Amino acid sequence: MTATLPTMDDSIRRGAEPARPRRTLADLPGPRGLPVIGNLLSIHPDRWHLEFERWWRVHGDLFVVRLGRRPILAVADGELVRDVLQRRPAVFRRMRTIEDVSREADMVGLFSADGDAWRKQRQLINPTFHARHVESFFPSICEITGRLRDLWAQAADERAARDVLGDLMRYSVDVTSSVAFGRDLNSLAGGPDALQEHLQRVFLGLNRRILAPLPYWRYLGLPADRAYDRAVVAVKRFILELVTAARRELEGGADRPARARTLLELMIAARDGEDPKARLSDAEVYANVLTMLLAGEDTTANTLAWILYYLGSRPDVQARAREEADRVLGGALIPTLEQSKRLEYTSAVTHETLRLRSAAPLLYLEANHDTAVGDVAVPAGAGVMALTRAVGRKPEYFGDPESFRPERWLAGAPATLPHEPRMALAFGGGPRVCPGRSMALLECAVTVGMVLRSFTVHLADHTAPVRERMAFAMQPEGLRIRFTRRGGA
Ligand code: HEM
Repeated sequence: MTATLPTMDDSIRRGAEPARPRRTLADLPGPRGLPVIGNLLSIHPDRWHLEFERWWRVHGDLFVVRLGRRPILAVADGELVRDVLQRRPAVFRRMRTIEDVSREADMVGLFSADGDAWRKQRQLINPTFHARHVESFFPSICEITGRLRDLWAQAADERAARDVLGDLMRYSVDVTSSVAFGRDLNSLAGGPDALQEHLQRVFLGLNRRILAPLPYWRYLGLPADRAYDRAVVAVKRFILELVTAARRELEGGADRPARARTLLELMIAARDGEDPKARLSDAEVYANVLTMLLAGEDTTANTLAWILYYLGSRPDVQARAREEADRVLGGALIPTLEQSKRLEYTSAVTHETLRLRSAAPLLYLEANHDTAVGDVAVPAGAGVMALTRAVGRKPEYFGDPESFRPERWLAGAPATLPHEPRMALAFGGGPRVCPGRSMALLECAVTVGMVLRSFTVHLADHTAPVRERMAFAMQPEGLRIRFTRRGGA
């Protein structure tokens, strides 16, 4: 059995009340900045998470960074990070710019909404992400995984190196859409009009605007911003068609409420429902369709791409995972639901990848009112950067933290190294913990099981280092994989 991550109930428990503040932000260390702009010049939009983590190694678990005049408290102490995540939405919220920038594109959905608007949406959306519900879509996940296998089998026959990240993004859009909306978009086979490319542009644009010190795009029409605006329009058109089709289908039957099965159907039913408190506006329905596509796509695709990276660079790990897949799957090439739950070492590889290469290495928050983090007073409006990946790289929580050691996640692993699964925060924590966690882990188990049974994974080009790139979610840049078919596959 693999050790499990903290449960939702676990993390919803109230965090400790902060101690009486003894220090202010001005008392804390931090990188030296320039007058007026502070540390802004060090924040490269593609790699800013690495800069924060570098500062963490120099200044410790609590330090201050200034973006312009704005102070940001960076926190890497595990207990304090969990406490901050826990005290949402009352005391802390996501950085307000995330909501502002999302509002401009009509996309204030579950990720960017806050306060009561967030509560209402979360209550509605939570049940559709329960493992049981996700599993009822298992046959479509298998079908989509079969398409991915065909694509990579062809690449293996042509001896072509693949940009696996692009393939995996299309794959995870198809899976998310199938589970959340009951629609298989088949973008993996070149389906609707490069939807995934538009989503990618939206992602990059959001990242750029959220980090921008000023809303320059309101006054300047830079080419990248025009491309972002066009992508938003294209995605909106696509989603409105999806919503209209689902509404037409729902209205077709007399048993409408009983038929609401998917997130999209539930949202449409709630839009017209009798309880005014639960009603969703058209804008909220649109925003949440987009949120799910964005949130489900990059995060899972990046995680899967990093898993392939580790399989390719660690033949010992690949051999052990393959032996397990052969044993559990027997002659099958794609795991059944029951088999995917028995892939314990594969699951350990996934958790170890999430620990070292989390798609969200830091979470960007803000204090709603004057409060404290540990013994540090935090004024209303100050930013709080929760360095969640740094927490998972601390030797007191995970021994030998920089090494990729999947076996640490196996039950019965020797207790020689510290191992604190509750400090693995790749899915966040507290009431806003990622609702897509079960779906993502199931996708990883099925995809990796399929890969191990069908192919041997090789890094295509050992001379080009794979780098981390932040594009709202953190991704491997320059990763190319070569697949060779296994005998009989
Ligand atoms: C390996 C894959 C994934 C990772 C690493 C990941 C990570 C995260 C993280 C770190 C957060 C912020 C949590 C917090 O603030 O405490 C989050 C939120 C969220 N995720 Fe995921 N996620 C993944 C997959 C998915 C999938 C597949 C979906 C849905 C299809 C999804 C939907 C969401 C949504 C809607 C939120 C916002 C929740 C809220 O604010 O209440 N995620 N995710």
